Amino acid sequence: MAAPHFDDDALVAAARAVRAHAWAPFSHFAVGAALRHRDGRLVTGCNVENATYGLTVCAERVAVFKAISEGMRPGEFTAVVVVADTEEPTPPCGACRQILWEFCGDIPVVMATPTEVKAVLGLGDLLPRPFDGRFLSTDKERRAEG
Ligand code: THU
Repeated sequence: MAAPHFDDDALVAAARAVRAHAWAPFSHFAVGAALRHRDGRLVTGCNVENATYGLTVCAERVAVFKAISEGMRPGEFTAVVVVADTEEPTPPCGACRQILWEFCGDIPVVMATPTEVKAVLGLGDLLPRPFDGRFLSTDKERRAEG
């Protein structure tokens, strides 16, 4: 099968490279992620596990939080690449889909391995009917109206 089209090779390479920093002593499942900012910058993240398991943070969320902490703003991202060494393309988990949606909206999610780009899907297809801040403002307006 032909590889799906995604021409930002540098973003894929960055997600592959950062995967080497994954801290995954419990699952031994290393993940790398890279976000492209519209101004050309890119931000990477790897998964960081914790002995309590539940405090583990996925590569995608690390990348988003790094980007925000560097001053990048919601809506300024154009693509995210996720790299794991799996036969089936590894998609972001549910929590990461939510976080990505709030900060990135309907961007392409590129799923790759160390050697191949496996799949490209819109985040809107991975997270249909998302909850986001629009619902909160509606509620606030309702309360203001009394
Ligand atoms: N993980 C990610 O970092 N991103 C994904 O898209 C899937 C899962 C991490 C969390 C945990 O450290 C390990 O992979 C196994 O779930």
